[in-house]
Amino acid sequence: MATRPRTLGEWLSWAERQYARHQLALGQVATSAHDEALYLLLRTLDLPLDSKPAVLRKKTTAEENTRLAEVFRRRIEEHVPAAYLTREAWLGEHRFYVDERVIIPRSYFLEIIPQLAELFGCRAGSLTPPRSTRRQKGGISDPALQGIRLPTVKRAVDVCTGSGCLAILLAHQFPAAKVDAIELSTDALAVAKFNVATHRLATRVKLHHSDVFDAVPRVKYDVILSNPPYVPTRELRDLPAEFRNEPTMALDGGRDGLDIIRKLLRQSRERLQPHGVVVLEVGGLRAAMDRAFPELDLHWMHTMDGEDCVCLVQAHRLQAWRG
Ligand SMILES: C[S@@+](CC[C@H](N)C(=O)[O-])C[C@H]1O[C@@H](n2cnc3c(N)ncnc32)[C@H](O)[C@@H]1O
Repeated sequence: MATRPRTLGEWLSWAERQYARHQLALGQVATSAHDEALYLLLRTLDLPLDSKPAVLRKKTTAEENTRLAEVFRRRIEEHVPAAYLTREAWLGEHRFYVDERVIIPRSYFLEIIPQLAELFGCRAGSLTPPRSTRRQKGGISDPALQGIRLPTVKRAVDVCTGSGCLAILLAHQFPAAKVDAIELSTDALAVAKFNVATHRLATRVKLHHSDVFDAVPRVKYDVILSNPPYVPTRELRDLPAEFRNEPTMALDGGRDGLDIIRKLLRQSRERLQPHGVVVLEVGGLRAAMDRAFPELDLHWMHTMDGEDCVCLVQAHRLQAWRG
């Protein structure tokens, strides 16, 4: 560093230049270098995330400069994801502990779970979707789902729970529901256990060490939800370093990306209430999913950025399916 920044604003400008110069990958914590660098600055110095812009005029002490230099060195030179440096990730207003044992939560389910609540006719939970996602195409106003009104959610499951984040969102959204959370990695399960305890949900969210449903007691669910690994194996090596720093097991979906999804859909046939739904986040695999499972009549749910990479399958479609 030629001349060391002396204020937070100078640190921010310097960091933004470094992000561009070193082509750091974004998308795990924020989608712009400005937002991610500002987040790292504030968190590293224990300043509130909603600090006013005037905070940028704050002069940094020698000790703070040393801390910031080390954090940005690891982010820039080692491509360590920002969330692993701060040991936290946010979905909406919900904070989760994360470290290298789990993928960093960044799921569309923050938008989708409130839509499920509308489908199930319950609004009691505490997950408020961004205002702009309400009443859009998708959810209950979607013609394909209109007229469907399902009973209250009593049992839900998050398959491939990682940090436990989606099981926890489900439990917050459906306060009367029992929630199971399934995970094959014992490392990830330890993180999920910590997060469930921190959210004071240990009596309602039960963790299971299992390969999909293999070791889970046979109960029937109203909602089966999953953000499974879905990256085709050959594409893993082309991911930016930041994403390769996440557990391979959280990303690797096998030859065509559909290995876990196929198993999950097959096993869901016996795990779903007659009125139940399976909801899956599948990244860029929409076309592959439609090709692989035409009989399931997958319904693609709308998301704010138009990616529409979450699909819903109804129980009767699964029952009729011969896959
Ligand atoms: C894409 S991550 C999703 C984690 C979390 N649900 C989220 O949205 O942040 C997929 C998770 O599935 C787990 N996993 C991989 N194979 C599995 C399997 N066969 N059965 C259960 N979990 C599995 C991985 O360890 C990883 O934690």
